[in-house]
Amino acid sequence: MISKLNKVLIDTAKENVAGGTDSTMRLLPYQLPLVISKSEGIRVWDVEGKELIDMNMGYGPLLFGHRSRIVTDAIKKELELRGTVLGFIHELSSEVALLIKKSFPSIDLIRFSSSGTEVAQTAVRLARAYTNRTNIVVFEGHYHGSSNAVFHKYHAEIADIESQPSYNAIPGTEGMGGEPQNIFVLPWNNLNLLKTFFEEKGETIAAVIMEPVMGNAGVIAPKDGYLQGVRKLTQDYGSLLIFDEIISGYRVARGGAQERYGVQSDITLLSKAMNGGVPISAIGGRREVMNLLVEGRVFHGGVYSGNPMCLAATLAVQQEYDTNGEWIYSTLEDNSRYLCTELLQIFKTAGIPVSVQNVGAMISLSFVEEGFTQRFEDYREIKKFTNKDKYIKFQNELQIEGVYIHPNQFEPWYLSTLHTTEQLDIVLEKMDKVIRRINWSSMDSVKLHSRV
Ligand SMILES: Cc1ncc(COP(=O)(O)O)c(C=O)c1O
Repeated sequence: MISKLNKVLIDTAKENVAGGTDSTMRLLPYQLPLVISKSEGIRVWDVEGKELIDMNMGYGPLLFGHRSRIVTDAIKKELELRGTVLGFIHELSSEVALLIKKSFPSIDLIRFSSSGTEVAQTAVRLARAYTNRTNIVVFEGHYHGSSNAVFHKYHAEIADIESQPSYNAIPGTEGMGGEPQNIFVLPWNNLNLLKTFFEEKGETIAAVIMEPVMGNAGVIAPKDGYLQGVRKLTQDYGSLLIFDEIISGYRVARGGAQERYGVQSDITLLSKAMNGGVPISAIGGRREVMNLLVEGRVFHGGVYSGNPMCLAATLAVQQEYDTNGEWIYSTLEDNSRYLCTELLQIFKTAGIPVSVQNVGAMISLSFVEEGFTQRFEDYREIKKFTNKDKYIKFQNELQIEGVYIHPNQFEPWYLSTLHTTEQLDIVLEKMDKVIRRINWSSMDSVKLHSRV
């Protein structure tokens, strides 16, 4: 059973730390208490010494596992050289930028920051300044950080949005003071809707920003030709295309979705797998756009931006991709396919209808109704036709069994290079055990929307 100490420590933390956690997403109301004291490879240990196989991997960055020597050795070395933060220019920025450009040919110039939120906000600012327009298009289910610039209610209730093909962004939290402003929200993966919207408002749109593989509402691939269609549409109307590849970059391919689907954006946002687990992000783009930063017309700063400690780790990770990229991505692809195939089989044998979707080593599992065989193509579908309660039950039981998946059904599972088939067999065995243990029929009564 889940130890009491986990709960005691969270309750104690609540005396000093708001809600007992540093991120609202890290302690959901339906989550079993879990406080980690140690990590290594694909495993974490809680404060009572209970071992869990981690399928969340820090929300994606830990592509080489927890405490990878690639990352920690580089940091140790840098600590002896330039330390943690400098406040001066050093050569690591340009060394890392050069390697990123090798993976992302759409990028001419780069700036480093500390979080995805910061670079998303900078991208919106750049697009508005470059085009001299104010409106931005975002999509349901897509998350670009928590800044006032773009933080919208990306997991809105279906009833609030269903009747609208496009609408003004709903603020993502209280306290946004009327922002986000001039942000329009549309369903993703529907080129016709976007075309219609552009026919009306295209001349006013500074940029379209999207996750080119949706990873914040399950894992949903772009439909054939969708990214190409958006690329053309934005070009035709003089709007910029921003790919938020904070999840997909260095995960679905070394060159992210841009490489996998053969489409280039004007601005690219990177973090997570780019750096292997240190707090650093990057914004890169076409020279004409990034020149606004060069000229100082658009401001971007940050005491910790491009600090040597994080850049040294990122350089080591980038060198690893440069040397072993082929092996890394074929391994991730193969292992992910193996897990998905076996998982589907286990659920089929147990007679529990599920949908499993993946793009490379990002995977999502959804509990669906009997007979549901279609693939989810946008947020509205995945929100409507999945049984959240079954997912939470599965997650809770799995955590007790010693495998951690995030309790939010929309959060992907992320594999690292250390999730070998042997390790995945252990995961599958535990999942099989849990699936047999749960009394699924007691949850069938949960009402799902009917398919339209
Ligand atoms: C696609 C995407 N963009 C932006 C962000 C925000 O990044 P950060 O949490 O580093 O601000 C995230 C975070 O998960 C993300 O998944």
